[in-house]
Amino acid sequence: MSYADAYASWQADPEAFWGAAAEQIDWFTPADKVFDPDMGVYGRWFAGATCNTCWNCVDRHVEAGQGDRKALVYDSPVTDTAQTFSFAELQAEVGALASVMRAHGVGKGDRVVIYMPMVPQAVFAMLACARLGAIHSVVFGGFAPHELATRINDAEPKMIISASCGIEPGRVIHYKPLLDAAIEEATTKPEHCLILQRDLELAELIPGRDLDYAALVGAAKDAGETTECVPVEATDPLYILYTSGTTGQPKGVVRDNGGHMVALKWTMEHHYGLTPGEVFWAASDVGWVVGHSYICYGPLLHGCATVVYEGKPVGTPDAGAFWRVIQDHEVAALFTAPTAFRAIKKEDPKGQLIGQYDLSKFRALFLAGERSDPATIQWAEEKLQRPVIDHWWQTETGWAMSGNPVGLGQFPVKYGSPGKPMPGYDIQVLDDEGHEVPPGTLGNIVCKLPLPPSGFPTLWNAPERFLTSYMNEFPGHYATSDAGIIDEDGYVFIMARTDDIINVAGHRLSTGAMEEVIGAHPDIAECAVVGAADALKGQMPLGFYVTNDGADRVSSELENELVALMREQIGAVAAFKTAIPVKRLPKTRSGKVLRGTMQKIADSVEFKMPAAIDDPAILDEISDALKGRGLLK
Ligand code: COA
Ligand code: AMP
Repeated sequence: MSYADAYASWQADPEAFWGAAAEQIDWFTPADKVFDPDMGVYGRWFAGATCNTCWNCVDRHVEAGQGDRKALVYDSPVTDTAQTFSFAELQAEVGALASVMRAHGVGKGDRVVIYMPMVPQAVFAMLACARLGAIHSVVFGGFAPHELATRINDAEPKMIISASCGIEPGRVIHYKPLLDAAIEEATTKPEHCLILQRDLELAELIPGRDLDYAALVGAAKDAGETTECVPVEATDPLYILYTSGTTGQPKGVVRDNGGHMVALKWTMEHHYGLTPGEVFWAASDVGWVVGHSYICYGPLLHGCATVVYEGKPVGTPDAGAFWRVIQDHEVAALFTAPTAFRAIKKEDPKGQLIGQYDLSKFRALFLAGERSDPATIQWAEEKLQRPVIDHWWQTETGWAMSGNPVGLGQFPVKYGSPGKPMPGYDIQVLDDEGHEVPPGTLGNIVCKLPLPPSGFPTLWNAPERFLTSYMNEFPGHYATSDAGIIDEDGYVFIMARTDDIINVAGHRLSTGAMEEVIGAHPDIAECAVVGAADALKGQMPLGFYVTNDGADRVSSELENELVALMREQIGAVAAFKTAIPVKRLPKTRSGKVLRGTMQKIADSVEFKMPAAIDDPAILDEISDALKGRGLLK
């Protein structure tokens, strides 16, 4: 079947299409209906079915006689470790952990926050939650205590699973003090924290609250303890993943069990072209949606091995790290963010290190998380001599909305485009009034409802925000907040966000949240943060601020304070390094800050003078401030 046939067959009968895909999943009881249009905001997939995601990722393969097959590879250049777990070993680890969690009160529907570095126990923890029917919420390790506290307050976890430390090149991240600070700040306290003590650092455990992961899980494993896979409704939540919204309060994207499994299993075969038994590597982090879908769930659902990589594309130890991992673990497909390739290309522009490794098992490279610039794709194609596939997706969907399915026979690549809509997605481009625009015209990218399986049914604790953020602007459609075009051949092009989200090294960040941090400084009257183009990270945050009258501050000192505040409040991942003083911010006559225009000035891109601008002279002041810092010629 070709891509065109698959898309046409989905269009002709979506329920038959997803009903057939669902046959690849083990259900305890089948669905009453493949799709129930009367459930939820826009309908729900596989209503009435019961299932267990951990069963389908782990136990099912053991039952089928594949217990000895490789399931998870841990490769950690920062600790000089490589370790492999078979499906049977994975089952023992996850079963024992689930039994420890259950013994400490975690059951179906309870929330568990996971704040871990890239170690196999992070994946075990996700699967153990799935096994118990508990709902995990993984928080990226690069977030600061305040961000963690916000998520703890919203998710109200019964347990938090964490580690004593994480390792970034050149420094140890002391997770435990960060966790303690977050719990101190949070208004909701977990009953227990299960802490993985790592060799590099032993954390102090708080008696009564903190539990030693290795001791308890080790004892449970030795005693052969496990739990059964608890049946849950297909429509029950598997996880909550918080993602940046337009304010400091992140949005808790809810993912269900049934639809998620069906969609991911379909993608493993058809989009990524993998066969069970092969090795799939998503070089991301379990804290992001890519990590959820393709470090943890997708490969395992398909009976593939997954790679948990605790390292970077460069510096651990060099720009050959990815090729070394591909060789050592016989990786068939790699999925990462373009920024990783820009980093490799910068250090090894001729790709000389590639030739030093055996990449004979490696078939294709997949890129997502941010716009892939054509130069990076072309470089990767030329150096790797393999297909390089850009695909576009969001935390909200859990899998690609557009792409180029290798498993269905790839269609020609158009550089700058993340392919064509995937089956399940009726993608349209609308003007601000909601009218469809002609091919090749820039507009708001929306997806006609219903979203396909795995699409988020709501936001945790925020059903109203779900409607106002995504559903109300273009009735009958999901608003992606991306702007772009669909050309006459049906290729999608993603050009920019329509909200204040920026994308830094493939990490989704809210400039609104950053402005809240700067605005809280006692010397700041007002501020604006924009995403300025960056050759390596795609975008970098750039802050402008106006001080309070009478605040006589040396700007370099104030900048240092703001940078430190951002690391403390949001985390190092914000990559906030620059804050520039200005006399005034450019605004419309109604007082709206002209962030888009400021961004264009910073990027030296031509712009039209906004008609409603209050005082055009302020734009020159912005240019002068940037020139003063050497950021503009
Ligand atoms: N825990 C704690 N801190 C973390 C972290 C984690 N899990 N991940 C990143 N950080 C820190 C970094 O150490 C860095 O701190 P610094 O400012 O003190 O140097 C900061 O957060 C910014 O990180 P990042 O933007 O990732 O920059 P970097 O210079 O460390 O690395 C790349 C740059 C390109 C190598 C890296 O971003 C990368 O590999 N990106 C591509 C893959 C990816 O993860 N994409 C995400 C979704 S698919
Ligand atoms: P996240 O939810 O963190 O996955 O971020 C989603 C956002 O990243 C999207 O809304 C896009 O703005 C951007 N994005 C993801 N993949 C791509 C891609 N292939 N091309 C362009 N932008 C992308």
